[in-house]
Parts: sequence; structure tokens; C-alpha cells
Amino acid sequence: MATPHIAAAKGQIAERILLPGDPLRAKFIAENWLTDVHQVSQVRNMLAFSGKWKGTPVSVMGTGMGMPSIGIYSWELCQVYNVQKLLRVGSCGAYTDQLNMLDLLLATNSWTDSSFAQAHNGKALSIIAPSPGLTNSIRLQAQKQGVALQEGTVHTSDVFYHGPAFNFRDVFQKHGALAVEMEAFALFYTAQQLGREAGALLTVSDSLVTEEGISTEAREQAFGPMIELALDAICQ
Ligand code: ADE
Repeated sequence: MATPHIAAAKGQIAERILLPGDPLRAKFIAENWLTDVHQVSQVRNMLAFSGKWKGTPVSVMGTGMGMPSIGIYSWELCQVYNVQKLLRVGSCGAYTDQLNMLDLLLATNSWTDSSFAQAHNGKALSIIAPSPGLTNSIRLQAQKQGVALQEGTVHTSDVFYHGPAFNFRDVFQKHGALAVEMEAFALFYTAQQLGREAGALLTVSDSLVTEEGISTEAREQAFGPMIELALDAICQ
């Protein structure tokens, strides 16, 4: 085992990696989009694959849910496997009726009420931006492919099931967060600490405003265009 959490040998993970939360989604991406695919890790069932997209080496690996989990994987991917570009492909819950089910949201900032940065290095931080280069590549690819993309701040939360005192409208109003998810802050922070590029592209899977949610099948339909966009952008 090359790290406590990833079994791939050094050199088996590409410099570019897509990071869905769900390891089975990593498998689905590898099997349906990449060529020359091989599985490179399955520690804790957190599947990782390497292959090629239009001839460029790319890997894809699940991150699990939440900042502690993506924090571990992204740190080891950068430090031990020398990954340079990390792109989260995930889902989010809308905080505004500007966002509809299955819309694509490009994170331009993450605001968090988590103590992730404080716990990492003793210095509190609540807002972090993704890497401008990778974010701009996603924007340009979306324009080129005619894919509609919304942009804005996301709330990266440690909590999925909030109590009654939590009001998402306060987070929307005070911090401008358009949606909630649970990983982007830790990914952006880790990449920034280690001098790497990171971004996040999210599909709206539910709404805290309308209390809608989408089925797993609908989620999979929306997933295709997001993956193609993500692969073209990270390989640019
Ligand atoms: N990811 C997708 N929907 C979410 C929600 N409502 N809260 C946190 N993370 C999410």
C-alpha cells in the first residue's frame, strides 16, 4: 500500500483526476468514458481507476462524503502521487430558486462554517476560491460545447441533516452561497496548501427552497454532459 488509504503504486495515478463522491460513480465514469482503463485502488472500497480521455492520461477516484474524507484522499493524491489537477464532479442542494433541478453549477468560491482549516494548521479560514486556471477551462469548454453553466459561491457544510435553528436563507443572504455541498472547501484548501489546481463542477440534485429532489435515474442522465465537460476541461 503506497499510502494508508490508496493502494496504487506510484506512477499509476495520472496528473489529472476527476473526483466524484461515490466510488461506484468513479467506476461508471471509468467504464463509460475512459479508454485503456485499469483499476488502481480499492482500499475501503474507495475505487480508483486510470485510463485515457482522447489520448490524455486521466484518473478517476471516489472521495466519500464530507471534508475529512476528501481531505485525506486529496492530500495523498497530491503529496504521494504528484497529482496536479483535481476536479470534483458532484451534486449540490439549491439555496435559491435561480437554480433548477439538474442545472450545472461551477463553484467560484466555497464558504464554510467548518473548522477544517483551523484544525489543519491552527489558522481559521472560511472562504476559499478554486484555481482560476481550471475554473476558466471549465467555463470555456462549456461555452464551446453550448452547455449552460451557472456560477457562484457554494456552502461547504459538515452537516447534511441540520436542526431547526439552521436557516439556509441566512447563508444565502450573508455569504451569497447559491447551493450546499460537503467537499469543495477541503479540496480547494488542500490543493492550495500543496500548490496544485482544484475546481468543482456540481449538478443540482435537490432544492432546499422547493424541497424537490431528483431520482437516481434522472441524476445519471444529467451526469453525462457534466463528465464530458469535466474531462475536456481538465485535459485542456
Ligand atoms: N449534496 C447534494 N445535496 C445536498 C444537500 N442538500 N446538502 C448537502 N450536500 C448535498
